Amino acid sequence: MSKTLPTPARFIQLGKLILLATTLTTSAILISCGGASEMAEGKAFFQTKGCTECHAVSTFGLDSQNKSGPDLADAYTDVQKRFGTSLENFLKSPTGTMQMVLKDKIKLTDDEKRKVIELLKYAHENKPGK
Ligand code: HEC
Repeated sequence: MSKTLPTPARFIQLGKLILLATTLTTSAILISCGGASEMAEGKAFFQTKGCTECHAVSTFGLDSQNKSGPDLADAYTDVQKRFGTSLENFLKSPTGTMQMVLKDKIKLTDDEKRKVIELLKYAHENKPGK
């Protein structure tokens, strides 16, 4: 009746293979979810806050309603060129149109400003065709 049972060594080898496969699948899922959630979050954030009235954010597939502001997909580095300061400082003490917008029209909490920086950094680094 005795069939040949797998030897312990074979079990260990099989175990290692399964472990490797699970690790690979898990990392793949984590990586893809990471990107997908940034995309979804970015899209929802700029739309809900009303930024898309004047700005497109092309990385997140967002169009602007009146196109009066620049595409925010470049803002992370463009603010430095245009205003001579970092995006962080620009959001703290904005000038020009954004000074009025952030004072009267759209209020951003400190947490939301951090979110803007994080999402616009992501939008810049993941802009298609870059
Ligand atoms: C009423 C229109 C309007 C709204 C709403 C608006 N912006 Fe702007 N924004 C502008 C304009 C116009 C500029 C171009 C700079 C200027 O003219 O002063 C600008 C510039 C910027 C810049 C600098 C971009 C660059 O490339 O230098 C950032 C960053 C920015 N806006 C973020 C936001 C965020 C975040 C929101 C939503 C919370 C928002 N804006 C809502 C009109 C708007």
